[in-house]
Amino acid sequence: MKDLTPPRSSLDPIEIASRDEIMALQFDRLRWSLRHAYENVPHYRARFDAAGVHPDDLKTSADLSGFPFTVKSDLRDTYPFGLFAVPRDRVIRIHASSGTTGKPTVVGYTQGDVDRWGRLVARSMRASGTRPGDIVHVAYGYGLFTGGLGAHYGAERLGCTVVPAGGGMTARQITLIQDFRPTTIMVTPSYLLNIMEACRAEGIDPRKTSLQVGILGAEPWTNAMRAELEGAFDMHAVDIYGLSEVMGPGVANECVETKDGLHIWEDHFYPEVINPETGVPVADGAYGELVLTTLTKEALPIIRYRTRDLTCLLPGTARSMRRMEKITGRSDDMIILRGVNVFPTQIEEQVMAIKGLAPCFQIELWREGSMDAMRVHVEALPHKGSDEERASLGAVLKSRIKDVIGVTADIAVGVPGTVARSEGKALRVVDNRSE
Ligand code: DLL
Repeated sequence: MKDLTPPRSSLDPIEIASRDEIMALQFDRLRWSLRHAYENVPHYRARFDAAGVHPDDLKTSADLSGFPFTVKSDLRDTYPFGLFAVPRDRVIRIHASSGTTGKPTVVGYTQGDVDRWGRLVARSMRASGTRPGDIVHVAYGYGLFTGGLGAHYGAERLGCTVVPAGGGMTARQITLIQDFRPTTIMVTPSYLLNIMEACRAEGIDPRKTSLQVGILGAEPWTNAMRAELEGAFDMHAVDIYGLSEVMGPGVANECVETKDGLHIWEDHFYPEVINPETGVPVADGAYGELVLTTLTKEALPIIRYRTRDLTCLLPGTARSMRRMEKITGRSDDMIILRGVNVFPTQIEEQVMAIKGLAPCFQIELWREGSMDAMRVHVEALPHKGSDEERASLGAVLKSRIKDVIGVTADIAVGVPGTVARSEGKALRVVDNRSE
């Protein structure tokens, strides 16, 4: 793999500013954002008043912990435009996240928001090793999802040639990659695996493609998956994080030279990690739920948004801004099996560790009497297709899951093609417990 470390002179000065400078900027912007929300969004005003806090109470950034949280249902309750802090005609773009139940969550952007978003995705891409002039293949979905358009505007802003492929139609993705020779691909890690398999099925060695960088996110993925993808494509696989409520992709990104967790772009977002049960902020280095406050968003300022994503904050390395560890999972996706907490990423690590298994899996949950039960569906690689080989792969996975994670799972090892493949965010857990 090529050394793609961006020249220091190409970075935004604030990326490598002193902590004091970053914290001073954060405090000024935090005060602005709290006032902006309080003065322009009745919902925030009512919440702050009910909690007995006022934006003027913020004397240091740490005082933010006295302000109320915002949660997904606040967006649902004010559907569609109730949290907007600017007149509707200043909103130039709407996105929405589908959600599993009921109405989608709607977010909006002013021209300034779209510009800042583009700059932050461009910064994220530069951190990933993409350079102006590169060809960038975007295989995140376009539409209400923030992935496609978010990546697209960032790539244009960086000065790249963008191929807006969108998600799906895998055979066509491969043709475009072969013919246009992009150096960067932006895609979910699970869909990239699908593309990798489809390449191989067509007799194309993914290592021989032009790709040098994959900017992968929108779902949890492990360092084991990184190793798999980097080996398969002979390219850097770098993590990009974001969520529509806070902006979209580009809230945090790994640096290609370190790949040691994601630098949070702290000049635009104020991160906290809280104990999810008590809501109290924990010290840097301790695990909990990520809470984000926007510092510059005009149309939809978000104060202390509970992301449900579990991670911990760490000091900066390649940049001065703090990092967060790769997301372990969402608290909603945590499975509690006979008292043991299990995340799909833990299962992913074990599946990836077994050579004869394809790098894909799905977890099925159901109830057995009063107990929850779990079955992990995996697939043997084509050359491991006999019944005995599959049974022995299943036994190895079962004992690894027992030894490392401490739970007993049923394992179903199918023949190639039995586990559902992703064209966007993978569905890792099929929950049949309520049936
Ligand atoms: O997934 C935005 C995005 C698009 C990020 C493209 C990166 C790349 P939502 O659909 O609102 O937005 O989903 C946000 O996805 O709260 C996390 O649970 C999860 N997620 C996003 N990025 C990562 C990541 C987009 N790098 C939700 N690692 C978030 C783990 C991620 N989980």
